Parts: sequence; structure tokens; C-alpha cells
Amino acid sequence: MELAGKTAVITGGSDGIGYHICLKLAAAGCNIAALGRDAARLSAVAEAATAAGAPKAAGLACDMRARHEIETTTSQILADFDAVDIVINNAGIWHKTGPLDTIDPQMLEDTVATNLTGAMQLTRAFLPGLRNRPDAAILNVVSKSGVLAQAGQSVYTATKYGMRGFTDVLKEDEADSGVRVAGLYQSGTNTGMFAKAGEDVPNHIFTEPDDLADVVVFMLSRPAKLWMHEVRVEL
Ligand SMILES: NC(=O)c1ccc[n+]([C@@H]2O[C@H](COP(=O)([O-])OP(=O)(O)OC[C@H]3O[C@@H](n4cnc5c(N)ncnc54)[C@H](OP(=O)(O)O)[C@@H]3O)[C@@H](O)[C@H]2O)c1
Repeated sequence: MELAGKTAVITGGSDGIGYHICLKLAAAGCNIAALGRDAARLSAVAEAATAAGAPKAAGLACDMRARHEIETTTSQILADFDAVDIVINNAGIWHKTGPLDTIDPQMLEDTVATNLTGAMQLTRAFLPGLRNRPDAAILNVVSKSGVLAQAGQSVYTATKYGMRGFTDVLKEDEADSGVRVAGLYQSGTNTGMFAKAGEDVPNHIFTEPDDLADVVVFMLSRPAKLWMHEVRVEL
């Protein structure tokens, strides 16, 4: 896909991996709509994306747990940017590890709503428009936890296995529509995700988010006849 001039929506674009994806896609000439909840971080990513080369960039507040916010924000993006070519489902949270009964029930709901339900609702809202584009893609930043069961991460892993199933079926459903679908299954990445959950995870062997964003740009920028629908990044 030729990236210059395309419009990309990146959930969780205000921090971590999503932030770096915004900057790399901006440098490739994409318009950027970055989603998150923190107003200051959203302004910062819009400003940085413009400086990196995005013809147009905006940071939009949208809580991925709230269906009405997703509906309002997706409508606003379609009005402001005319059309969307690339959807990157990346927003996600992680919970402290432990047996299921130690995971806070609100955290359980938030993890499912943010990592899985919200991504499906947002994709659902953009899908009809994507089908009308000459070149369109949905790329889901999932996790190694979408293919591997690790102790203590039952809820997080459930959302990531769910995202893998969603990705695989979407790919089949859209096979004739021209909308290409991909999943990225990466291991530990050096962001604040674990600290936000109150866990101090050793990160010296972790992938850098900037390097992972290069992988995303590489996947998206392949020619139509060479689509990388599933990529695993791990040591
Ligand atoms: N870091 C890793 O080791 C790792 C490994 C494998 C997979 N992943 C996956 O990669 C993705 C990105 O993770 P990351 O490491 O970049 O995490 P991060 O640095 O914590 O960033 C998470 C992003 O998601 C947004 N977000 C969280 N909850 C949200 C909500 N309710 N509504 C809207 N936005 C929300 C955050 O924005 P605000 O908080 O400002 O709203 C932020 O922009 C996630 O899906 C994660 O599961 C990460």
C-alpha cells in the first residue's frame, strides 16, 4: 500500500506503541487520527505527528469502553477526514498477574471492554467506509498473549485470544471486499503498560516501541500482492 495521503486511525495513539505508530505513519505521509483519553497526551501526539510530516493530524478523546463515545468519535473522524483508509486497533490495558479470583472485577470488565469489545465496535463503525476505499487495511496490534497462554494473565489473554479470532474471521469475511486484515503478535515492549497496572516488570529484553512501529509501517506498505496478515515479533 502506498501510505502517502492515506488517513490512519490509531486507537491508543496517545502513548506507548500507538504513539510511535502515529509518528512513523505521519513520516510516511499519512493523515493521523490518534485516539486516547488524556487530553494533554492527545494534543502532544497531534503536534508531533504534524511535525513528523502528517498533512493533517488530530488527537481525539474517546474512551474505548464506551460504545456511544466510539460512535460519536468515528462519525466525527469520517466528517473531518472525509474517509479512512487504515484502522489500527492498538489501545489496550494489562492487569496485574494472579489467579482469576485475585483480579479486580472492575479491572476484568475494563480489560475486556478496552482490549476487545471496543476494538470490535470501532472496526464495525469504519468497515462500510473502508470497503469503499481503493486500498484499505485493518491492523490489530494484539500480543504474543493472543497465541500463548501464560499463567496469571487469564483475562488479558482471553481478550488477546479473542482479538486473534476476530482478526482471523474478519480476514475471511473481507477476503473479497478489498479490505486487508492483519494481526501483530508481539512479546514484551518497552512502554508504561505494566507500570500503569502497578507491576514492575523487568524490561531490559523488551522490544522498543519505535522498532515495533517500523514493523507496522513495513506490514502496511507491502504491495497488494504481498500482504503480511500475521506477524509474530519475539525473542
Ligand atoms: N507493552 C507490551 O509489552 C505489550 C506487549 C504485547 C502487546 N501489547 C499490546 O500493545 C497495545 C499497546 O500497548 P502499549 O504497551 O503501547 O500500552 P501503553 O503505553 O499503556 O498505551 C496504551 C494506549 O491505550 C490507550 N488506552 C488505554 N485505555 C483506554 C481506554 N479505555 N480508552 C481509550 N484509550 C485507552 C492509552 O491512552 P490513555 O491511557 O491516555 O487513554 C494509550 O494510548 C495494547 O493492546 C497491548 O495489550 C503490549
